[in-house]
Amino acid sequence: MAISIRPYQPADEEAVENITYRTGFKGEGLEGRDYFNDKRLFFMIFIAYYAHYEPEHFFVAVEDDSQDVVGFICGTTNTPRQEKRFALTMYWRIALRALFFTSWRSPKTFKTLLGLGKVLPDMREKPANPVDIHVEYPGHLHINVLPEYHHMGIGTNMISHFEDHLKCLGIKGVHLGTTSRNHKAVPFYKKHGYAIVKEASTAIHPVFKEISFLTFAKKLTSE
Ligand SMILES: CC(C)(COP(=O)(O)OP(=O)(O)OC[C@H]1O[C@@H](n2cnc3c(N)ncnc32)[C@H](O)[C@@H]1OP(=O)(O)O)[C@@H](O)C(=O)NCCC(=O)NCCS
Repeated sequence: MAISIRPYQPADEEAVENITYRTGFKGEGLEGRDYFNDKRLFFMIFIAYYAHYEPEHFFVAVEDDSQDVVGFICGTTNTPRQEKRFALTMYWRIALRALFFTSWRSPKTFKTLLGLGKVLPDMREKPANPVDIHVEYPGHLHINVLPEYHHMGIGTNMISHFEDHLKCLGIKGVHLGTTSRNHKAVPFYKKHGYAIVKEASTAIHPVFKEISFLTFAKKLTSE
């Protein structure tokens, strides 16, 4: 099966939203779980920003025959700037949807969201070692491949493509977050030269008990 990587286009949004939802629960699908029932909101929290505001750093993996989008990689070259822009452009949209749609349609999802709101600042701002992650590794990324296409080399091709893209832009390092229970992502990042620079033990929700949030990072230039 031949797969190509190309820049994201607005018409890819629905496919990307589906992939995000089908891989968002410690690397597995959120379908059919009480934990988070609002697919659109999940996309708005984690991925929509990149599609709408930094599409120049967003790539999709497409099956050549069908032209179906089967994976994506996205991110930023400048995490502090991205966080500020995310706060300005997305917080109010997320809050409106959560309050006026999700809270009455899925109270359990709303509860998860409140837990997420409490721990996200902690996950972002307390490095476990003196390295300032945002200075040493200013870029960050998210990568997701549809489960039926896992372990076929698609993630490897996308992450190499993304790293080359960042290197061409002179970005000296990149980081990302995942959970210790993500049994595919952890070996994937290690294989690609990423090292753990931060570990945060926290509990968003009972389903995350005894799971830590890991920040992986990799230098892209020798400087
Ligand atoms: C992590 C992910 C992007 C890897 O993509 P992929 O296309 O399956 O990766 P590749 O086929 O290029 O595999 C490369 C390496 O990843 C690891 N890996 C991939 N699938 C794995 C599996 N099922 N079990 C264990 N390790 C696996 C292995 O180290 C593998 O190397 P190997 O072939 O020598 O064993 C993919 O599993 C995924 O989308 N998961 C769900 C979303 C997610 O967890 N995203 C990242 C964290 S937020």
